[in-house]
Amino acid sequence: MRIAATADLHFTPARFGPLHEQLNRVRDEADVFVIAGDLTNYGRPEEMEPLVNVLVRIRLPTIIVLGNHDYESSQDRELMRMLTQEGIKVLDGSAYERDGVGFAGTKGFVGGFGRGVLTAFGEPEIKSFVRASIDETLKLERAMSQLRTEKRVVILHYSPIRATVEGEAPEIYPFLGTSRLAEVIDRQGADLVLHGHAHNGRCDGRTPAGIPVHNVAITLLQAQNPAAAYRIFDL
Ligand SMILES: [Fe+2]
Ligand SMILES: [Fe+2]
Repeated sequence: MRIAATADLHFTPARFGPLHEQLNRVRDEADVFVIAGDLTNYGRPEEMEPLVNVLVRIRLPTIIVLGNHDYESSQDRELMRMLTQEGIKVLDGSAYERDGVGFAGTKGFVGGFGRGVLTAFGEPEIKSFVRASIDETLKLERAMSQLRTEKRVVILHYSPIRATVEGEAPEIYPFLGTSRLAEVIDRQGADLVLHGHAHNGRCDGRTPAGIPVHNVAITLLQAQNPAAAYRIFDL
């Protein structure tokens, strides 16, 4: 299976023309299209509507997770409905199997990496913050445990490892993801992990168990090739 992946489109109607152009050939190059969150800038239905029109026109099975920007207007349910209605698969702690390949996806959350992971100690505000992070890892675990396929792909918005956020300011690493997600991935096993969010991070890394992780933020892809709107992975 050839998987075309991108993230962080931050779509506004002004991007309609260029994006439509850039996605013109994806159908010839891939079997599945993955978008790892931040489809819109402010999470408004009026941003999502033209993007859905672009996605429907490429006529390729499309699998997405939402990103933090897609939650900004508290219309995430409506955005999911708009996508689902057009046959786009929205993963939110859920799994999807297609042509023998399993996809498990959830947004993920912040929380930090390695020894810097924030723990649920002290004020109730810290505890609820950490709980949100743990809840996302539990959603991922549930989604991954549903897969019965040999090949498994994980789709997140936030990074599960530090290596693919390096390049951003170190001060914000804890807000770009959490290694709690990598613990689940390594426990459950996967062939490929795709995420976005760290616009200025690095493209490639691995979990502690060696599973390949790729940051497919469109900013990074276009830093290498300004005409690129996605990256192809062969599975
Ligand atoms: Fe983003
Ligand atoms: Fe983001």
